[in-house]
Amino acid sequence: MRIAQITDAHIFEDPATRFEGCDTRASFEAVLAEIQSLGNIDLIVATGDMSMDGGFVSYRFLNSLFSDCDIPILAVPGNHDEPSAASQSSNFYFLTSAENRDFGRWRFHFLNTKKDGDERGEIDSKDLSELARNIVSAGRRPQIIFMHHPPLNVGSAWLDDMKLENASDFWHIVSQNPNVKGVFCGHVHQDNEISRNGVRVITTPSTCVQFKRHSRIYQIERLLQPGFRVIEAQDDGSFSHLLVRLEPSDEFSVPLL
Ligand SMILES: [Fe+2]
Repeated sequence: MRIAQITDAHIFEDPATRFEGCDTRASFEAVLAEIQSLGNIDLIVATGDMSMDGGFVSYRFLNSLFSDCDIPILAVPGNHDEPSAASQSSNFYFLTSAENRDFGRWRFHFLNTKKDGDERGEIDSKDLSELARNIVSAGRRPQIIFMHHPPLNVGSAWLDDMKLENASDFWHIVSQNPNVKGVFCGHVHQDNEISRNGVRVITTPSTCVQFKRHSRIYQIERLLQPGFRVIEAQDDGSFSHLLVRLEPSDEFSVPLL
């Protein structure tokens, strides 16, 4: 089973608007084209902030791209998203409560960490209870969790201030089953892998603008290109992953100063 994780597309309502000079629609189209060209992806998972402003037109753009894509997509919202605006579209919409899907031996969990009016993340109590049920009922199935906000610090103070707020509740639930193998997140626009009690937490770069790692304050990383992650979930319950970045392009690369 191969999954492509895409995250933090930040599509604007107005196609002329740029994010730090990046045409986020162009970079997103290039990422999606690259994923389709791989030819062996079974599922795309979008981990939030797919829109910058939550506007209907930004989701209509995503919907039109996914209408032409024959790979199934599942998405969870980020702090910038407006799930109700996306729900009017048929091919691109968000799972807004804790859900899971089983693929072969694997169970994948999808969590909504969006907290209205806040950049920080939160899993509400109803979803925490549902997650606990789904994690325990998975039994011996290997499991991966997808969510927007990382449930731990990544070493960038300004981003760590807006991680998942109720991370201790999350980790308490995850500890109920030793078969939770990994957590894949977005939000931080940078590549990290941090292990916590044997669970690998992986953050994936944005499909548009990158943020500098280990920075105390907001700083963009001009040298790194848009990307996505390929996750290979093996039948033996292990997984591996690979970060893919686009080649620099005048169409979407953030200009060097
Ligand atoms: Fe975010």
